Amino acid sequence: MPMDMELESVLRPTQYPMAPYPPKVITLANGKHMVVRQAEREDVPEILKSVHPCLFIERDYYDIVSARLYGELLAWYRYRVKSEYCLMGQVDGYLVGVVNGRLENEKVGMSYHTLAIDRGLRIGSHLFAAKMEYHMDYLGQEEVLIVAESPIGFRRWMVEYPLEKTTIPHELGGGDSYRLTREIYLAAKHRLVVGERPVPADLWETATKDILFADDDTIRERIAGLKGR
Ligand SMILES: CC(C)(COP(=O)(O)OP(=O)(O)OC[C@H]1O[C@@H](n2cnc3c(N)ncnc32)[C@H](O)[C@@H]1OP(=O)(O)O)[C@@H](O)C(=O)NCCC(=O)NCCS
Repeated sequence: MPMDMELESVLRPTQYPMAPYPPKVITLANGKHMVVRQAEREDVPEILKSVHPCLFIERDYYDIVSARLYGELLAWYRYRVKSEYCLMGQVDGYLVGVVNGRLENEKVGMSYHTLAIDRGLRIGSHLFAAKMEYHMDYLGQEEVLIVAESPIGFRRWMVEYPLEKTTIPHELGGGDSYRLTREIYLAAKHRLVVGERPVPADLWETATKDILFADDDTIRERIAGLKGR
């Protein structure tokens, strides 16, 4: 059925112009290189292949976080959310983590989700830091509103930065928002925002050739099989 573009123009939300996120490479604790780069809207179906197996993992709130992330990415793909972006981490082409968020307005950012598909390497922490870097250094925002859904998330963002508690409701509908201000960002940046630019050509080529996804069992094993947790 042909799309009614007149109605579409009403259903599609405003899109703020957004500067691109310059890609970087992070050397992980295991010596592997993780390329962090911005996803294009057309990448969404490939990204969803790695998010999907996480929907069924209750441990550490992977199920709820990935279900929400899945819906948010689909909303971006289908033009049903305002000014969303997505950054991803890849090792040897494989997707190992995803973060997303959006612009509430030009000054205020809304953090959505962080999903570490490989564990124990602070991949989630690095990607969350990249998203704060995007809001502050490249989109020039004044603040980002954040909520945590999991105790690990709370420890990683609210405690490690540390973020400022507010009474502002968050779009995700959980507890009240915590806030990353420019001041907090600048104080935390040297500890938490890492990576080098530009990305060497061979790493860039591997990352952009394909967004590879490990099979469902491998992903489940990596996330759910953590010893002693
Ligand atoms: C929250 C999240 C993004 C953090 O990612 P991360 O920075 O890469 O951290 P990890 O999940 O690998 O590790 C978290 C903890 O588990 C421990 N852990 C990780 N892998 C482990 C392993 N193989 N064996 C034992 N412990 C392990 C780590 O040591 C770490 O503990 P620490 O906080 O004392 O350092 C990630 O846990 C995640 O995706 N969780 C599900 C979704 C979610 O909660 N998102 C955030 C919503 S607010």
